[in-house]
Amino acid sequence: MPSSAQQPIYVLGTGLSHNGSAVLLRDGKICVAIEKERITRRKHDGGNDTEAILYCLETEGITLEDVSLVVQCANFEIPDRKRFHGPRLFAETAHPPLISISHHLAHAWSAAGTCPFDECAVMVIDGCGSPLAQCIDAENIPEGLPAGEMLCEKDSFYRFDGKKMRPLFKDFSPMSGDRESAVGMQTTRDSIGGFYAAVSRYVFGNMDDVGKLMGLAPFGNKGFSGKDVFRFENSRLFVAEEWKSDLDRPAADYAAFQADFQYYADVAHWAQEQVEKAVSELFRLRSEEFPSEKIAYSGGVALNAVANARLLNEGVVRELYIEPAAGDNGLALGCAFYGWIAFLGREKVKHDGNTCFGRSYGQSGIRTALEAFGDRLTFSEMAEADLLDRTAENLAAGKIVGWFREGAEFGPRALGRRSILAHPGIAGLGDRINAEVKLREDFRPFAPAVLPELAGLYFESGRKSPYMILVDRTREEFRTNLANVTHRNGTARVQTVEKAWNARFFGLIEAFSEKTGIGALLNTSFNRKGMPIVETPAEAISLFLESAIDVLVLDDFFVLKR
Ligand SMILES: [Fe+2]
Repeated sequence: MPSSAQQPIYVLGTGLSHNGSAVLLRDGKICVAIEKERITRRKHDGGNDTEAILYCLETEGITLEDVSLVVQCANFEIPDRKRFHGPRLFAETAHPPLISISHHLAHAWSAAGTCPFDECAVMVIDGCGSPLAQCIDAENIPEGLPAGEMLCEKDSFYRFDGKKMRPLFKDFSPMSGDRESAVGMQTTRDSIGGFYAAVSRYVFGNMDDVGKLMGLAPFGNKGFSGKDVFRFENSRLFVAEEWKSDLDRPAADYAAFQADFQYYADVAHWAQEQVEKAVSELFRLRSEEFPSEKIAYSGGVALNAVANARLLNEGVVRELYIEPAAGDNGLALGCAFYGWIAFLGREKVKHDGNTCFGRSYGQSGIRTALEAFGDRLTFSEMAEADLLDRTAENLAAGKIVGWFREGAEFGPRALGRRSILAHPGIAGLGDRINAEVKLREDFRPFAPAVLPELAGLYFESGRKSPYMILVDRTREEFRTNLANVTHRNGTARVQTVEKAWNARFFGLIEAFSEKTGIGALLNTSFNRKGMPIVETPAEAISLFLESAIDVLVLDDFFVLKR
């Protein structure tokens, strides 16, 4: 195994379930990471990890031979390679040592490896993890679990001491017996994530983006159902099947949803409230039994920005770190950190909070991409200060800007590397972006990206939220200036932009602030409905040309349509 200063130690993590991804650590620090969907352009793509791994190796300029260890994770077993649309890189040829870890352990390590804490508790909540029989961390599991059924992870609580991850309480559930009905759960029977996904499918007719339910909930009224979905027994969470009896009008498709908008909004309101209560109660129970000031949090349910804020607002958790790639796209991250810290016994390298690990395309790569579009564009390369000034001027004038700079974000949110940006206050601009750029539902909200020092001025809690996974409330006096980024109920899914790892985006908001007096921008992901976020310059240019985006910034290039 190489160990000299000239030869870095590489650990590769790979996630093989849906939302597949690969992550490369160099001497314990993330150097490249990519979600498979960004490469293949199929949303939530998973399975064969060849493309994602090659992207990481090529970006770093190494081969598999340079990698010391590969750690992999999947739901259930690693499928037979025939199910993988072609052989994996590890199928036949010689390869580095390859080990597998189970699902919640990978989620837990993703949070522990990136959190600012030296030691902490770690919470994992999702819809379905590994079967009990495949868990390599099956300690402290409840007594009296049903025998003879397949049981899968649903929530786990760990202690991370800086070197080891010890399970304090791991809970399991049988798989749902009802997968076919309109409110059937596709995963475990007794999980928060499973419930949320089932209601999302009921409301929207599909499970393409379960998080939409959170955006819809504020349009709903209280009182859809008096039934409580979750109950707790002996510190364990269960789902009461009775909730399904009130849900007898599943939306077949988007037209059905639209035709009965208020009804589905009321359902979303109720489901969101149920989930928030359950998440709070689970954190409260675990914290009571295993007190910890600091908790790192991962698993798909951790993407619920409203439930997350409630944990802090109600004082259930003192210090909370939420891993931005909290869904299964973050499994590869956890695999890599498990490899470095737990398996190789190396020190955790302090992480700077950055979550952008995609490749940069370089000025020549971008110029080539621009030239390929010939006379449909005009572009000029600009110095940073001029570029920021010109872009801010356009934003201040109400133009919609495609913003593509450096390597992409890892995780579901665009944080200023692959973003569509606009003025946060000009009336109607948000609706225009939904209708003419994103081609998505008109109820979908937009997030404010704000200078951190102004968060307390504009929003009630003013909390730091660098990953856009905590909501806040826009103060009354800023509701006009921030109209496009304040949701119907007065909340906003804030991103406080960190200068340390997001300097160019930070600089743009500063430039915009100088022109308008508003230190915030509307920030939404650089994609259309159903499309993964753009990865390459060519994808960005295509979307720019096909949509109502007025200006495109590609690294140092300022681009207009001809
Ligand atoms: Fe998961």
